[in-house]
Amino acid sequence: MSAPQILSTGRALPRRVVTNQELSQRVDTSDEWVFSRTGIHSRHFCQEEHGLDLAQRAARQALERAGLGPEDIGVCLVATFTPDFASPSDACLLQQRLGLLEDTVCFDLNAACAGFLYGLKTAHALLADAPRPYALLLGCEVISRVMDMDDRNTCVLFGDGAGAVVLRRREDAVWHTVCGSRGDGQSIWVHGLGQGRPLIHMDGKSVFRFAVEVVERSIQQLLQAEGCGIDGLDLVVCHQANARIIDHVAKKLKAREGLFYKNMDRYGNTSAASIPIALDELVEQGALRPGMRVLAVGFGGGLTWAGALFRWDC
Ligand code: UT7
Repeated sequence: MSAPQILSTGRALPRRVVTNQELSQRVDTSDEWVFSRTGIHSRHFCQEEHGLDLAQRAARQALERAGLGPEDIGVCLVATFTPDFASPSDACLLQQRLGLLEDTVCFDLNAACAGFLYGLKTAHALLADAPRPYALLLGCEVISRVMDMDDRNTCVLFGDGAGAVVLRRREDAVWHTVCGSRGDGQSIWVHGLGQGRPLIHMDGKSVFRFAVEVVERSIQQLLQAEGCGIDGLDLVVCHQANARIIDHVAKKLKAREGLFYKNMDRYGNTSAASIPIALDELVEQGALRPGMRVLAVGFGGGLTWAGALFRWDC
């Protein structure tokens, strides 16, 4: 068996912080409504920065913490649905900025908010045959660029940011994964090239129902594969879309207080970046220690979902 080992993490957020209070001056909303329905107080929006600037900062931090240089990387993947350009990919532009070698496998991957965990599976598979044993995996989003700032149904929910990890393949380790997609173009969509400014649309209620269903099911499947119960986990890092989704699942699974990490109060929903940003915060807090059983689960447009249960061993 083999599993991906996360050697280091990094994150980068735009400088500008936008509070619920500030948004309530533009649309008919309030801090009370947004916080009670989502757990979000504020988020970061890019102003002068581009997504690639965030990706570069997060990636450099992760590389430095791993004690590695650009010449060590064999795979570079960016999970995003809001790349700076349709082409070239964020991954290729990051390759240029970081000076990654020419034979590095570089591409973007779009599985919306499940993108980071789709990326973890993909990077792990690619490392089996990569020119060098380390992968750089990022979740990077500039969702403010695809938001209608006059639509209160969406503009209060999302934020911009990037998270990065450096990975290698451990041949003597075990992990379990689940992955899926529902082929649904109605619940969340952002129209593509040639159709005017892309804007995000979402049927919040149906996504909420989908989320609680797949998150609970994915966790049950991963626990079954691992042969343990919810109490056997040390930490659950769920995609940070809405605190009520997490609380609902935690209650259903009778999870102990604090098992599910939450940080959407300060970042909002950063889609593919939410899980690596959370991992980086947890590393900084000293909350992730070797040997801990960690479960991560994401869900989003597509409708996609993905989960992974692994041992933290960096
Ligand atoms: O990462 C991608 C995955 N996305 C998600 O996970 C999102 C999942 N869905 C959700 O998080 C929730 O459905 C929302 C937070 C989006 C909405 O919460 P809700 O409790 O489902 O509210 P709702 O859509 O049923 O709206 C209730 C009311 C409506 O008014 P009426 O029709 O009852 O008069 C909305 O118009 O709240 C209104 N509303 C707002 N009011 C103040 C909607 N947005 C706002 C707002 N401020 N920002």
